[in-house]
Amino acid sequence: MGLREKIQDRTAVVGVIGLGYVGLPLAVEFARADYMVYGIDIDEKRVGQLHSLKSYVQDVPDADIAEFVGNGKLIPTTDYQVLKGIDAISICVPTPLRKTRDPDIQYIASATARIRECFHPHILVTLESTTYPGTTDEILLSEFEATGLKVGRDFYLAFSPERVDPGNPRFHTRNTPKIIGGVTAECTALAQLLYEKVVDRVIPVSSTKSAEMVKLLENTFRAINIGLVNEIAIICDKLGIDVWEVIDAAATKPFGFMPFYPGPGLGGHCIPIDPLYLSWKLKLFNYNARFIELASEVNTHMPEYVVGRIGRALNRLRKPVNGTRILVLGVAYKKNIDDVRESPALDIINLLQQEGAEVDYSDPYVPQLKLDGAMMSSRPFAGQTLRSYDCVVVVTDHRDFDYDLVARESALVVDCRNAIRSRGPNIVKL
Ligand SMILES: NC(=O)c1ccc[n+]([C@@H]2O[C@H](COP(=O)([O-])OP(=O)(O)OC[C@H]3O[C@@H](n4cnc5c(N)ncnc54)[C@H](O)[C@@H]3O)[C@@H](O)[C@H]2O)c1
Repeated sequence: MGLREKIQDRTAVVGVIGLGYVGLPLAVEFARADYMVYGIDIDEKRVGQLHSLKSYVQDVPDADIAEFVGNGKLIPTTDYQVLKGIDAISICVPTPLRKTRDPDIQYIASATARIRECFHPHILVTLESTTYPGTTDEILLSEFEATGLKVGRDFYLAFSPERVDPGNPRFHTRNTPKIIGGVTAECTALAQLLYEKVVDRVIPVSSTKSAEMVKLLENTFRAINIGLVNEIAIICDKLGIDVWEVIDAAATKPFGFMPFYPGPGLGGHCIPIDPLYLSWKLKLFNYNARFIELASEVNTHMPEYVVGRIGRALNRLRKPVNGTRILVLGVAYKKNIDDVRESPALDIINLLQQEGAEVDYSDPYVPQLKLDGAMMSSRPFAGQTLRSYDCVVVVTDHRDFDYDLVARESALVVDCRNAIRSRGPNIVKL
């Protein structure tokens, strides 16, 4: 039976490599669509946890793991050898930055090398990890064709960017449209056929490079607009204007304006990182991606700006930062999730500690936080807690916090998210 028929009648065996925020929900969707799925991860702890029927990804309920791992539709494993019997592979490994802020594609490279060891004819490989345009062709295609097999005839290769938005109650894997670009038309067609079984709408594009670029456009668009509005916030502060009022008023325009909101800086695995994959690639063409660099500079500076605002607010109360007790509310990089990767809260805590402040945090999603080797524990959110600090900083506006209580009980609040709707002499907004 050919791959097309196997995908159609759901006898195709699917492998998902990298069971993180992106890979685990995808593996569950393939299992839900009645495919037999192998989830491959190098992290033994994660694989073990799935075998104990427990999820570690907030958007994937334990019940789904219990159902699909329990009934044997989803088999988590660290053993790449299972790929020998697999028809379609989706790669969802991390794509971070190196210390030098250049792309670190070691995880894609190592997954590709491991796939090559088990490579066989009539396999479909789809890369989902966010990366610079050209990765699929330059790294995966050349490695797989070195086996002597020919793409579009003996095997199929595509790029399909992941668009997961952790914590989004409305959009999840199934109802978020998916872009697919294959190396050949047949590669695109087969990847589209497969993904249409788990995603409501699939949009094919003409090449892997276009598909790679789509993701970078989406995230660069966000990074630049956030950079712009962060700068507008700094400008409004200098001019004595409430930036939040300005944005809300501008957002009443029914066309030609889309509101973005300032904040303490970018976080997460996508927006602060992905645009730099693009600007890095452009450097190879001797081109400086100016908007990206500028937005990155503004956004990266925001934690320092916030610490400056905290210092100014305390100064008005004749208090130095040094020795002051400060409580950071929310350390996850965005609201209602438990992910602290690249979170600006970490920089803010660090900078405040460097200034001599005594910093604690409260975050119901992050019970413990490791910062520079030291372990911090979340303080309980309560009026008594708020009262015991000189300054409370709203960094992440989780829905779980009672903001009226924050406004009422805190001596001073620096609100980076416009979470507190009331105004008062003790409230400073970004
Ligand atoms: N998290 C998001 O919101 C999001 C959204 C869209 C796109 N993405 C992109 O998706 C990709 C994955 O991100 P994520 O957030 O799921 O990462 P993650 O860190 O949550 O998960 C990645 C998993 O891959 C595993 N892994 C690493 N190398 C491996 C290898 N060689 N073989 C098998 N497993 C390996 C890790 O152990 C980890 O469990 C990244 O490129 C990211 O930019 C992430």
